[in-house]
Amino acid sequence: MNGFKHNSEENYIEIIQRLVKTVVLLLLLVVALIILNIVDLSSPKIPKKEVIALATEKKDSNPINTDTLHAVAPDTALLADEPNSFQIKYGRLLISNTSFYFGPKGTIAHLSNGMNCQNCHIEAGTKPFGNNYVAVASTYPKFRERSGSIETIFKRVNDCFERSLNGKSLDTTSKEMVAIREYIKWVGKNISKREKPKGTGIKDLLYLDRAADAEKGKITYTLKCKSCHAENGEGKLNPDGLGYQYPPLWGKHSYNKGAGLYRLSRFAGFVKYNMPQGASFSNIQLSDEEAWDLAAFVNSQPRPDKDLSKDWPKISGKPVDHPFGPYEDNFTEQQHKYGPFEPIATMAACEREGDPDNMLCRMPNVHNAVRQGVMLHDVLEEYLVEFSPVSPKIEGRVIATDAPSTLLTSVKGVNYQFR
Ligand code: HEC
Ligand code: HEC
Repeated sequence: MNGFKHNSEENYIEIIQRLVKTVVLLLLLVVALIILNIVDLSSPKIPKKEVIALATEKKDSNPINTDTLHAVAPDTALLADEPNSFQIKYGRLLISNTSFYFGPKGTIAHLSNGMNCQNCHIEAGTKPFGNNYVAVASTYPKFRERSGSIETIFKRVNDCFERSLNGKSLDTTSKEMVAIREYIKWVGKNISKREKPKGTGIKDLLYLDRAADAEKGKITYTLKCKSCHAENGEGKLNPDGLGYQYPPLWGKHSYNKGAGLYRLSRFAGFVKYNMPQGASFSNIQLSDEEAWDLAAFVNSQPRPDKDLSKDWPKISGKPVDHPFGPYEDNFTEQQHKYGPFEPIATMAACEREGDPDNMLCRMPNVHNAVRQGVMLHDVLEEYLVEFSPVSPKIEGRVIATDAPSTLLTSVKGVNYQFR
């Protein structure tokens, strides 16, 4: 019994000693916290008014204003004045009658599927919003994510030979390739370097708030396209068989799965301002919905494959509507092909006090930023109270060039790093 009493006295002393130690430690901690806080206050910190905003990479949705159309190619009547007019004219012929020279019965070589460049680059690549070449000379050579390299005009032309014409590349030293380049340079001769005026290339359409619907597209196809492009999308050959009166939209003679038109946004933007034949930006015959649904229908039909293993070396550089994974996000190939694209293209970002509304996390020209009226730090702290500890997976769709990759955000008073 005594032994037990003795022991419990010792225990009391020990407990008191421990208590004193704890109190001292706590006091030290409080002092440390106060100091830290003071240090915190005096150092430059994240602006207080950080709010979450959602922004979409959505493209210019303004209706086309014909007054601001600058995508005007030079008048062919002026061609004769050019010192290399012969070369330019030859280039134009190669664009408008590609099949005659390089098709399955081509007079120079058999390199391509029988389509003409002009089938997709309307009026030999001069029509506003007709996928024209007006801004090619001004923007090439340029870096392209698809190849992960700086591309010349030659490389870009051969891309279309290999994909859109489902064929082989053209020798870059041939007089035909040089003529094509000289023609493309002439088409863009009025545009200053690095400029890309309105009306060049293909116009981006607004995303639908649903997935594009191939079934609906099929109905529109029957009503508005089948008369020319035929029941099975095979088009109609010219009587001489050297080119198409109506080019194919799918099947073995059409563009392959590596071609630009295989992306729904390219197809929809192209057909909206160019099809049915005769349509243009001032004579639109399809609604946005029809254009997207047609893209879904046509691009769900069979067509030639292409080895795409070397494309998009940087996965994060893939456009939202590239239908082949892997992706850096968790959306499926199905959604990357048909949409809805809005959720893929939308991201959360924070706005810093003092920045204009179209500037998020130092990204300029952000469209459709929507303020959520919430402080990013409040949300995270609230979340952490309930779910700590966490190990979130950083998607990596956005890369901060001036912060370590392990940094998610800088929330005060949290002792672990995000990895
Ligand atoms: C089946 C349709 C199709 C055919 C045929 C086609 N192209 Fe293309 N071409 C495209 C699409 C789609 C793009 C990408 C446009 C975009 O993304 O804005 C493109 C882009 C280009 C570009 C870059 C345009 C720019 O502004 O950056 C050049 C140059 C080009 N094509 C040349 C040619 C040549 C030369 C031929 C014939 C040998 C040809 N294309 C045949 C569909 C086609
Ligand atoms: C009156 C005939 C006609 C109708 C109707 C028509 N097209 Fe075309 N389409 C053409 C011609 C001709 C071309 C080639 C343009 C050129 O060479 O100038 C073409 C080219 C195309 C191309 C690019 C070349 C290719 O074959 O890939 C696409 C895509 C296309 N049309 C889609 C459509 C869709 C979708 C519809 C229905 C909304 C449609 N077209 C209705 C005549 C027509």
